[in-house]
Order: sequence, then structure tokens, then C-alpha cells
Amino acid sequence: MQSYSVIAVTGATERKQLSVLCADQKFIAEAPVFLVWVADLARLDRVCELRGYTQVTEHVESFLIPAMDCAIASQTAALAAESLGLGICFVGSIRNNPQEVIDLLELPQHTFPIVGMTLGWPAKEPHLKPRLPLPAILHWENYQTDQDTALLDYDRTMAATGIYEGRQVSMPDKPEVMENYGWLEHSARRAARVVRAGMRTVLEKQGFGLK
Ligand SMILES: Cc1cc2nc3c(=O)[nH]c(=O)nc-3n(C[C@H](O)[C@H](O)[C@H](O)COP(=O)(O)O)c2cc1C
Repeated sequence: MQSYSVIAVTGATERKQLSVLCADQKFIAEAPVFLVWVADLARLDRVCELRGYTQVTEHVESFLIPAMDCAIASQTAALAAESLGLGICFVGSIRNNPQEVIDLLELPQHTFPIVGMTLGWPAKEPHLKPRLPLPAILHWENYQTDQDTALLDYDRTMAATGIYEGRQVSMPDKPEVMENYGWLEHSARRAARVVRAGMRTVLEKQGFGLK
């Protein structure tokens, strides 16, 4: 049913405002286009209205489908852009201040910003990050829990790239502890933090029931 929309923001003032709302990340204001991928059931409200129906929007599924549509469409756009020599960066911090983004972009009821994406000509060729080894991702026939070898391998591979230097996630209880800092510690610290706890309130205000 294509339950997504994308807002292409080109105005310098609006890009600057969005960069501040998205964790003050400067590259968002610098890129010529900022795409905001929006879960969109508003269009289907109109479809239902035109045909004399009322759309059901109060269940988790009614949010999951448009969120998945946004993920699929944005990744497809990323591939298309990169095939043309353009560069992109996904921006999850579009959900840091969802109400402000909704107000700025005049998003109607039954819409929600899922992910942002900068679009522009890359200043330099980005290096490719090593990916998780296949055994950590691919499970034949049923879910395999013995992933430790793959995880420890990846931890060492990622640490060896030097990617975490100066980018360590601090923890309140052990801010100075940085030894053995690799993918395991980085991911665990990120996963152990509360993030965007207020999102549900805004989702409900936008008409997504999440029952
Ligand atoms: C859903 C999602 C949200 C992201 N949000 C941000 C962000 O807000 N700021 C940022 O600099 N990078 C963001 N990134 C980009 C990642 O930090 C990383 O640079 C990117 O995924 C490339 O890494 P990869 O080689 O593992 O794909 C995001 C990536 C994804 C997939």
C-alpha cells in the first residue's frame, strides 16, 4: 500500500534547524538535500474517506508496516544515490525531537518521521566498515545461540580498524575505562543506555495506538 512519504528539504534555514534538532550534527546543514522518511498513513486516511471507510490505526502493526516501508524505500534510495556517485548518511537522530520535526515539516495526523538521510556529493571516498561474520547473522533452519566465536572475531576485527579512537561511548559508572574497547564494549554501552524514551507519547499523539 506504500505507506511512506519522503520530504526533501533543500532550504538552508530549514536544514540548519533540522541539524540542530538532530543532535546538532553539522553535516546535516552542509549537505544540499536532507530527506526525511515519514511513516505515512495520512494518505490512506484520504483513500478510506474517498471510498467510505475508516482506517484502523491503533495497533502495533499499523506502525510497523509504514516503518518497514520507510526502511525499504530509504535503503533503495541509498543504493540508487550511491550508484550515481552521490553519498548518503542515515540520520536516526531525526527521532531525538520528533514533535519539533513534526511541527517544522507540518506533518499531519497519522504520520511520523522514521529516519533522515543526507544526500550530496561526498568530499572523500568513505572506507567500508567490516561487516558482522555470516554465522552471527545467518541461522540455518532455526535460531543458533552459539555465536560467541563470531562475535569475538568481529570485536577484534573492528578494534583493529581504529574506528573507536576518540569515539568511545562513555558510561556513568565507568567513564574512564577504555581498555578492551572494541565492538563488544561499544555495542554493549550503546545498548545499555535509555534512548528516546518519550517517543511513544508523540506516536500516540500522531494517532498511532501501538496496542
Ligand atoms: C538507522 C541508522 C541511523 C543512523 N543515524 C546516524 C546519525 O544520526 N548520525 C550519524 O552520523 N550517522 C548515523 N548513522 C550512520 C552510521 O553511524 C554509520 O556511519 C553508517 O551506518 C555506515 O556504517 P556501515 O558501514 O556500518 O553501514 C545511522 C545509520 C543507520 C543505519
